[in-house]
Amino acid sequence: MTRPYVASRSEETLHRRSFDVLVLGGGIAGLTAAIGAARRWRVGLLTKSTFEETTTFLAQGGIAAAIGEGDSPELHLQDTLSAGAGLCDEEAVRVLVSEGPDRVRELMEICPRFDTVDGQIVLGREGAHSLPRIVHAGGDATGSEVSSALAEAARLGSRVQLYEDEFVIDLLTVDGRCVGALTLNLADGGLTLNVAMVTVLATGGAGQVYGRTTNPPVATGDGVAMAYRAGAAIRDLEFVQFHPTGLAVPGQQTVQLVTEALRGEGAYLRNAAGERFMTEYDARGELASRDIVVRGMVTEMRREGSEHVYLDATHLEAAWLYERFPSVTAGLHEHGLDLAGDLIPVAPVCHYFVGGVVTDVWGRTTVPGLYASGEVASTGVHGANRLASNSLLEGLVFSDRVVRDLDRYIGRLGEDVRRLSFDIPEADAGGESSDAAAARARLCDIMQHQVGVLRRAGELQEALDELGSLTSELRFGAMGEDEYEVLNMLTLGTQIAKCALLREESRGVHLRDDFPEGDERWRKHLTLRLPEHERTEG
Ligand code: SIN
Repeated sequence: MTRPYVASRSEETLHRRSFDVLVLGGGIAGLTAAIGAARRWRVGLLTKSTFEETTTFLAQGGIAAAIGEGDSPELHLQDTLSAGAGLCDEEAVRVLVSEGPDRVRELMEICPRFDTVDGQIVLGREGAHSLPRIVHAGGDATGSEVSSALAEAARLGSRVQLYEDEFVIDLLTVDGRCVGALTLNLADGGLTLNVAMVTVLATGGAGQVYGRTTNPPVATGDGVAMAYRAGAAIRDLEFVQFHPTGLAVPGQQTVQLVTEALRGEGAYLRNAAGERFMTEYDARGELASRDIVVRGMVTEMRREGSEHVYLDATHLEAAWLYERFPSVTAGLHEHGLDLAGDLIPVAPVCHYFVGGVVTDVWGRTTVPGLYASGEVASTGVHGANRLASNSLLEGLVFSDRVVRDLDRYIGRLGEDVRRLSFDIPEADAGGESSDAAAARARLCDIMQHQVGVLRRAGELQEALDELGSLTSELRFGAMGEDEYEVLNMLTLGTQIAKCALLREESRGVHLRDDFPEGDERWRKHLTLRLPEHERTEG
């Protein structure tokens, strides 16, 4: 699990491509980095599936930016720091909130379909924002509008070479420096060495590690796992954000999100008795930060022995609701539910990985030549709890910074990576093989039930033991996407459980039943790095 490469092929059997800049990931962070870098460099962008199969594409709420009257970067900073529960990196947050408005205005030139009334941009409200500051497009279709516009810009207006269905197996390193990535083409099974002077990791999150998630099937934590194998520092893995309002229908792993913007527009949460309850937990009621709303919901659900609470928008005007929330309306219809007429069953569901690959404010990881941006990165802007709609903003702002830093970094490089050769271990031919699908199902079950919203030491320890046995029992003969994914997911799951067990307090999205309060001694990050790389760090 922790050796430098999970791949095992001889170099002669591989195709080879070379770029100045290799971007891994087709969401907002990857597309922004690729379009920006292509103004000066030869860029290749690889995405695991298609540009529609990303977490960005599914985003509903929108993008937070201090562009409205009465708003300011300082107010946005205060809201972000306060949600982050003492673990935000203030310098990174200042970058986010002060550069954010310009990046959003630039995005509006590429994606002109942001919602306006009488020529004025409409700002939505979400939990823990002190005033409305969320720009949105197509009502609740912000992600698909933004993704489509950026993918179109990358295809038509720039010199980015785009490759879909490319699964990244491993980052390539030479003498501790990242020089590209080894990929598996999911259509024809071909393996390619993609060599590059710089690699930008923008592979998104890992929601599929849990039994119920809003994330698309591609979100299996590949980026964090491969960066860890390549020697990068990763941190804050215990901070897994559960979104309060995933649609609670049984039997589905990928769950429909019911956007927080609905609560921003006045929808209520009700318990099984039909009572509003959030004001008992926080004066902001349904618009408290996500961790507080989740804690309130779970307390009600436990008390009532229920699997969910309800979101109630029935007091809002039907025609307006359908127009403002077309994606949620359509998604609910598929389950026979009417947003304007029914109480919608909702429960917390895995939504976002706050932690990830450690970067500085220029997106630089601890591995030279490797940058990270978006959900895969830990820039420090989210602390222990991400403020709603700050994630698309983070991708925009930090990918722009990566592009600016590339010019400095590449300018200093002397050698030509195209001539490098790579030491990738030979394959073990054939042999007995475990069932990857069964291992994955077991992993998701452990994470969902023992490393979920409310955690306890005993369950976390059991989870760690079970994940350890699962890992040591796995034997893969031939390796394909399913096998690589399950190895990555096991790396993530194990490190999440380990960090969750270590952090003996409740902070932000990390809620411990046996340590229900915060503890000042734990106002620190848990950072992980393979031992051999810690030694060379000096
Ligand atoms: C939502 O629309 O509720 C999700 C927004 C986010 O996760 O930032």
